[in-house]
Amino acid sequence: MTLLERDRAHLWHPYTQMRSPVSPLPIVRAEGVYLYTEDGRRILDGISSWWVNIHGHCHPRLNRALADQAQRLEHVMFAGCTHAPAVDLAERLVAVLPPGLTRVFYSDNGSTAVEVAVKLAWQYWINQGQPRRKVFIGLEHAYHGDTVGAMSVSADSVFTKAFAPLLFPVSRVSDLSGLEAELERHGENVAAVMVEPMLQGAGGMIVWPAEFVAGVRRLCDRFGTLLIADEVLTGFGRTGKMFACEHAGINPDIICLSKALTGGYLPLGATVVTDAVFEAFLSTDHSRTFFHGHSFTANPLACAVALASLQLFDEMPVLEEVRRIERQLAAGLARVRDLPIVGDVRHIGAVGVVELAEPGGAKRSQGYTDQIGPRLAAACLERGLLLRPLGHVLYFMPPYVISPSEVEWALSQMFEVLEALPGR
Ligand SMILES: Cc1ncc(COP(=O)(O)O)c(C=O)c1O
Repeated sequence: MTLLERDRAHLWHPYTQMRSPVSPLPIVRAEGVYLYTEDGRRILDGISSWWVNIHGHCHPRLNRALADQAQRLEHVMFAGCTHAPAVDLAERLVAVLPPGLTRVFYSDNGSTAVEVAVKLAWQYWINQGQPRRKVFIGLEHAYHGDTVGAMSVSADSVFTKAFAPLLFPVSRVSDLSGLEAELERHGENVAAVMVEPMLQGAGGMIVWPAEFVAGVRRLCDRFGTLLIADEVLTGFGRTGKMFACEHAGINPDIICLSKALTGGYLPLGATVVTDAVFEAFLSTDHSRTFFHGHSFTANPLACAVALASLQLFDEMPVLEEVRRIERQLAAGLARVRDLPIVGDVRHIGAVGVVELAEPGGAKRSQGYTDQIGPRLAAACLERGLLLRPLGHVLYFMPPYVISPSEVEWALSQMFEVLEALPGR
């Protein structure tokens, strides 16, 4: 049996209708920005393997860090034990994060980083003697992950629809005046405001101005509530700054990290909080303890690779590369804007976005399930470019090691695919 036949017999892929799935790509190896298939194709990874890869696949330094750590300590539980990879990484994270974020709680992925943030905010107020602060406020189009708490803080969408009765209610706002009104309305019942700073990802690659993020911080301060920044996507340079909060010069009370934290190698989440949040859990009363953990909390292999990834930021002009990609996207996407099927073009850091419109210019309404997405993906893949549009939102989010000529090539493929689309 071929790999695909064996896959078909026993596997269940994420976000995939398994009745008639498009055959998955059989990937046998990867290097730099390229994936190589069993049948000999070379494909440019234009979405950084779900936004996680930044230094390229199979990077020699990260490979070495992983292999070296595996020789010493592969894993040990993190309650009652500690180890150098976890401590070294926490020190580095605190040094590079916006000021004030000093205490690192590890978990497994982006969704768990968000779950931890939600639970910490909830219990923080209980521990502070303000248990009525139970209301979470989030943005329209938010996406924070697929576990139940992370789905709750996410906006209604195809991802959450079937589970709506399971989720706790969250107030939704779409701008600063809406946020101000919700904060007024709920007053001292608000536990936290959660945002994806600068760039909302799965909700449609929506770019926000820095003034919005700064405004959210100001309002949280004015109303005395916590600000949670979900930087699972935006952290580690993706928007052109190490963390997206830096665009606005703000410091959140809680930040959620994952994806590129390990350079895209291994699953690891980190929820980092201020001294004030941490101190609210210090007590001789056990009920104030944060009773949360995972079998693989602070996995040494993942921490060692994450540390090596951060060292690459110190040694190489990584953020300059992101800004170089951003300049190239700004120039290269300009010509896409003129195509009649294109409704909007936007970019931030190493993310270029093309939002398609209906023929005639109206906004497309089907969202994530818009079948134009799979058609665009198939056409790009045929040309050797892996993209995974969010319905009618086509985006390019490559590893930062992509060369100028590879960016040029990828943009040309996107342009030609869009140009060939019917419906002007
Ligand atoms: C902003 C944001 N938060 C959380 C998540 C969830 O991360 P994970 O898929 O690792 O659970 C994602 C995933 O795309 C994300 O973009």
